[in-house]
Amino acid sequence: MKILVINGPNLNLLGLREPQYYGSETYADLCEKIRAHAQKTGVEVAFFQSNHEGAIVDEIQAAYRVYDAIVINPAAYTHTSIAILDAFKSVKIPAVEVHISDLSKRESFRQFSYLRDYCLAVIIGHGTDGYCEAMDLLRERLG
Ligand code: DQA
Repeated sequence: MKILVINGPNLNLLGLREPQYYGSETYADLCEKIRAHAQKTGVEVAFFQSNHEGAIVDEIQAAYRVYDAIVINPAAYTHTSIAILDAFKSVKIPAVEVHISDLSKRESFRQFSYLRDYCLAVIIGHGTDGYCEAMDLLRERLG
């Protein structure tokens, strides 16, 4: 099974940005954790991070017939991007949405997700472990 892990804006600054919400692990630590989990569970994994909405749309389109599933933390685009939702609806690749922080305890503008209804599941507030949980869920449902 081939899974693409997409991270949206400012997640390249994990470790630096608001550690009270996102912890002290860096983006490189996150990728290493996911890579180790993928190896243990026999999944092929690839990574993409961008601060640009259009680049994320391009990556989702390019994933068509290449990846079996996508794990995505759209970051701030969660709450704003119809374009990312439409890209998923176009390619119909199964996806799980992940958020590192517990959005239920944060600002009201973070409570809405355009992508939520498209995704098989949304994992919120489990820190970076949420990405591995998302991969397990996709393996169980599609594997
Ligand atoms: C986030 C939550 C979003 O509201 C925020 O804009 C992010 C990260 C999370 O992982 O908790 O950048 O998606």
